[in-house]
Amino acid sequence: MIRYFAAAAILKTFSINKFTRSTYRYLGNVFGQKKRRQQNIDVYVNRGDQLIQLIRKYDALKNGGAAVELGTGWIHWFGLYLVLNSESDVSLELYDVWDNRQLDALKSAFSKLASQWESDASINATQRAQLAFIQSVNSFEELYQYFNARYTINSDGSLACYSDASCNLITSFHVMEHINKNFIRESIGDMFRMLKPGGFCIHQIGIDDHLAHYDDKVSQKKYLQFSLAGRKFLFENIVQYHNVLQGEDYQRFFLDKGFEIIEINRERCDITELPVHADWKNYSHEDLETTVFTIVCRKPI
Ligand SMILES: C[S@@+](CC[C@H](N)C(=O)[O-])C[C@H]1O[C@@H](n2cnc3c(N)ncnc32)[C@H](O)[C@@H]1O
Repeated sequence: MIRYFAAAAILKTFSINKFTRSTYRYLGNVFGQKKRRQQNIDVYVNRGDQLIQLIRKYDALKNGGAAVELGTGWIHWFGLYLVLNSESDVSLELYDVWDNRQLDALKSAFSKLASQWESDASINATQRAQLAFIQSVNSFEELYQYFNARYTINSDGSLACYSDASCNLITSFHVMEHINKNFIRESIGDMFRMLKPGGFCIHQIGIDDHLAHYDDKVSQKKYLQFSLAGRKFLFENIVQYHNVLQGEDYQRFFLDKGFEIIEINRERCDITELPVHADWKNYSHEDLETTVFTIVCRKPI
C-alpha cells in the first residue's frame, strides 16, 4: 500500500511543470532503456500473437494495405510483429505523442524473439531474414526504409495528419487509456475517418489501476475504492495519465462514431473484497472486474 501512495506522489511531483515533465521523460528514456534491454518478452509475444490471431480471423489485412499503430512506444513491437507475421505487403504508420524510441532495447527484444523462433519450424525464410535485418540495423531510418514504415509524432495527440479512408487497420496496445478523457471521442472519430470502409480497429486497453504496477499487494482495480473526484485529486497525474474509462464507455464511443463492434475480450480480476465507491455503480460487475479490455471494431462497408 505504501508503494502505491509513494508512486502516486512521485508521479504527481514529476507532473508539476514543463521542466519536471521533461526530466521524467529524460530519466525514463535513460533508465527505461537499460531496463528494457533486459526485459522478458513473453508478454509482448503473447499480445503480439493475440493481434495476429485477430487480424487473421477477420482477414483485416488479407490483401495487404496500410496499418497504423497508435502509441507505438519504445520498440515499435506491435507494428513490427504485425509485419513479420503478415502474409501480404503491409505499409506501416507508427504514431506517438513523444519520441521515446530506444534502438538498443528494440534490437534486444527482437533478438530474444529470434532465439524463440530458432526451433520453430513454422517460421519461413523471409521472416528469418526480416528478423535478422532488425537485429542488424544502425538507425531507425534504416528500419523504416526496409519495412516501408513511417514514424510520426504529434505532441497534441491529433490524428488530423492522416488522410480520409487511407488505412485498412488501426491498432494500439495499452495506449487508449492514456488518451485524455475529453479528447477520446474526437480521436475515435478520426480513426473512423482514416479507415477505409470495411477497415478494422483492434485496440487492447489497460483498464487496470496503473499505480498497482508499483505495488503487487493492492487490487488491480484499486481506484474503484475512490470517488471519481477523490481519485482525480489524489492520484491523477500528467506523466502517467490514465483516463479510468471502462469497457462500456469505449463500446459506446465506438458505436456513436459509426463503428460496428465485432469482438470483445476481457482479462479480469476478483473484486469481491474491494469496497467499490458508489460513483462506479452504473458500470456492470463484468466491466468493473476487467483489467485488460480488447475491442475489435469495423467501419461498415
Ligand atoms: C504504455 S505505453 C505502450 C507503448 C507500446 N504500445 C507498447 O506496448 O510497447 C503508452 C504509449 O502511448 C503513447 N501515448 C500516450 N498518449 C497518447 C495519445 N494521445 N495518442 C497516441 N499515443 C499516446 C505514449 O507515448 C506511449 O508510447
